[in-house]
Amino acid sequence: MGIKKHILVIPGDGIGPEVTTWGKAVLENIAEEYGHEFTFDGALMGHAAIEVTGSPLPDDTLAKAKASDAILFGAIGHIKYDNDPSAKVRPEQGLLKIRKELGLYANLRPIMLFDELLDASSLKPEILKGTDILFFRELTGDVYFGEKKRSEDGNTGSDLMIYHRYEVERIAVKAYEAAMLRSKRLCSVDKANVLETSRLWREVVQEVAKRYPEVETEHMFIDNAAMQLVKNPKKFDVVLTANLFGDILTDEASQIAGSMGMLASASIGDGTGFFEPIHGSAHDIAGQNKANPLASILSVALMLEISFGLTEEAKRITDAIDKTLKAGYRTGDIADAHTDPAKILGTKQMGQKVLQYLKETVLN
Ligand code: IPM
Ligand code: MG
Repeated sequence: MGIKKHILVIPGDGIGPEVTTWGKAVLENIAEEYGHEFTFDGALMGHAAIEVTGSPLPDDTLAKAKASDAILFGAIGHIKYDNDPSAKVRPEQGLLKIRKELGLYANLRPIMLFDELLDASSLKPEILKGTDILFFRELTGDVYFGEKKRSEDGNTGSDLMIYHRYEVERIAVKAYEAAMLRSKRLCSVDKANVLETSRLWREVVQEVAKRYPEVETEHMFIDNAAMQLVKNPKKFDVVLTANLFGDILTDEASQIAGSMGMLASASIGDGTGFFEPIHGSAHDIAGQNKANPLASILSVALMLEISFGLTEEAKRITDAIDKTLKAGYRTGDIADAHTDPAKILGTKQMGQKVLQYLKETVLN
């Protein structure tokens, strides 16, 4: 029996619209094939929304988001603001606000490694092979949302790093639940040797750990974790960490998967789930048919699995990507010296290839 779902597509800025087109196309294909009924709506966010409405998150977008069953998002940001620290209205505020408003406190970032891409990474293949990490990044607290201040003379700025017990506990529970379904190893990353928020974090994680005696817990300082991640990524399974540490660590971890263009993420909480590539708006290549659509397509696989419980359909998508890569097709970001130049594809051609394999792939 097919299911009925309403999906909001927010393409956002830069390469967002180009890559999201393919995420949506894959959703349409899956719906058709499996007899599901997916209806779609679109909305603005980020720079694209500022240009039209003056706000990075218009009320209309938020209302549509709340009324949908899942959200597919592209990317956010514009170079114009990056070089203007005094801008009061910024595209990123839209993303932060929607995370807060929808209560998306857990950001899941799986580091999925396709064997074909071992050579695309700047790290040695033998270090990478077999790596499978699931990051749980806290998403609605930390310095991201603490009070921001600038002194009257403009010479002092501060961001309050703040965590409440309940915020740490709810994401810790989500991470432990996931660890129970994986290899039962969890590494909590903090800076408890310096930060009070991290001491609270560690205390709460230790308490939650007692409820999951089967899970082997390790606590690691962020600086050490950043080093271990490139030294021996295989040692990690579920990684639980705060908002800012998770932001930085997952960009670093994207190199394990070969490129930022390969990583998808799911932001979940108590309501509508939000799915997006971890890459940014990449204005330098926007509109040039160069962006890698695979992270958007993988985000769709996460949506099907996590929000709709459609595991088979999700697997079908990752299999199609696997086949595409095995056949040698690459976008520029994941191409290497061995890539056949004739198989280096643009965004559109890569999207079409995945669709082609999706239609051909039969699950056994
Ligand atoms: C991410 C991004 C965002 C973040 C930016 C665009 C606000 O880097 O999702 O990782 O810092 O959370
Ligand atoms: Mg980031």
